[in-house]
Amino acid sequence: MTISVAVIGAGMAGKAHAAAYRVAPTLYQSTLPPMRYKAIADINAELGAATARRYGYEEAVTDWRAIAEDPDIDVVSVVIANSLHLEVVRGLLDAGKHVLCEKPLSDTLEAGREMARLAREASTVARIGLTYRRTPGVAAIQRWIADGTLGRPLHFSGRYWCDYACSPDASMTWRYRGPMGSGALADVGSHLTYIAEFLGGPVKAVSGGAMSTVIPERPLPLGATVGHERAAVSEETARVENDDYAKFTAHLRDCDASLEVSRVAAGYPNGLNFEVFCENGAASFHQDTPSQVRLYLHDDHPATNGYRTVNLGSDHPYVQGGLPMDVAGVGFGQNEGFAYQARAFLEEVAGFPEEDSLPRNATFDDGLRNMEILEAVARSAEFNGKKVTP
Ligand SMILES: NC(=O)c1ccc[n+]([C@@H]2O[C@H](COP(=O)([O-])OP(=O)(O)OC[C@H]3O[C@@H](n4cnc5c(N)ncnc54)[C@H](O)[C@@H]3O)[C@@H](O)[C@H]2O)c1
Repeated sequence: MTISVAVIGAGMAGKAHAAAYRVAPTLYQSTLPPMRYKAIADINAELGAATARRYGYEEAVTDWRAIAEDPDIDVVSVVIANSLHLEVVRGLLDAGKHVLCEKPLSDTLEAGREMARLAREASTVARIGLTYRRTPGVAAIQRWIADGTLGRPLHFSGRYWCDYACSPDASMTWRYRGPMGSGALADVGSHLTYIAEFLGGPVKAVSGGAMSTVIPERPLPLGATVGHERAAVSEETARVENDDYAKFTAHLRDCDASLEVSRVAAGYPNGLNFEVFCENGAASFHQDTPSQVRLYLHDDHPATNGYRTVNLGSDHPYVQGGLPMDVAGVGFGQNEGFAYQARAFLEEVAGFPEEDSLPRNATFDDGLRNMEILEAVARSAEFNGKKVTP
């Protein structure tokens, strides 16, 4: 058996997927079947070709249908604008491909519901890439909660602050189009909410929803855009349709969580950070220093008690046996999360039993549930912070 992979979308996250399939077989033991790196698809022909060359994929195509129709391709990552996910995923599942789709599942709840239905009926594996539960620091804190080191969470406070939209000169892209709630809330709030549930249990209700659009117009780009890269812009502008900033309280099974997301937080290119306060102490994580977490335990001597910094290494999830040098202090970042995610997906496609595999990726039903929570936040905001059950 050979697993032949393709990636649709060669933008910011598309490159991370293309690279992750390369790295995935090198993580842990060599138990995956041989891989074939078949194709990259992007309507931006130049970018697609450059990405295929850079990561050693055999060809670049400009129409995703070429991938759906290629009988040699087994596994496909869908890494394009959220509003395109439904059409492309439908075509791929119809063609019998295994699909790893980026978050959020889609741009509207209706499309998300249809995608979840398609996944339930598919004979192939369909998963969604909500990467952060595989971040070693996040996984370590979850383990300390579950094994009683930290014990039950009492209070969670999380932020995902980004600054990609803080300049009014940053061009219009697909990220600024779609209903309120599909902006910062869906883009990075999807991750933060999924992490909050990982640590504090499922969301029962949300309240205190508030959203704002603080830069109402953006210049149109003159050419193609990639991720958050600055593009040359025209004099013409278009209206920003969705939220630059959102906040809400998530009432989790174990505790309340105060969550805040922004794409206009100057100085925070990728500022995911949270603190969780528990029965036996507390822990905090910041994406700026992803190979460290801070831990506080009540049982230290009072005179010397305080937060300590823990360097993550071979005693922690994912790092242990998963990196070439798996010792503390070597460091790692967000790209490894994509590789762990790809490894878990390939293990599932290859038929590894769940107990011998990395934790499975989220299902499309999980992705739909994530969208339902964010939609409840948008409803809460619409009704002045009212409590809403997703
Ligand atoms: N998990 C994460 O950490 C993470 C990070 C960034 C983005 N994402 C997700 O990844 C997806 C893509 O985001 P991005 O920032 O990489 O976007 P991007 O704008 O950088 O890239 C999208 C690419 O899709 C291409 N494209 C557009 N229409 C296409 C089509 N019909 N067929 C093929 N290619 C097409 C564009 O030319 C562009 O190169 C989104 O769903 C986003 O939410 C996830």
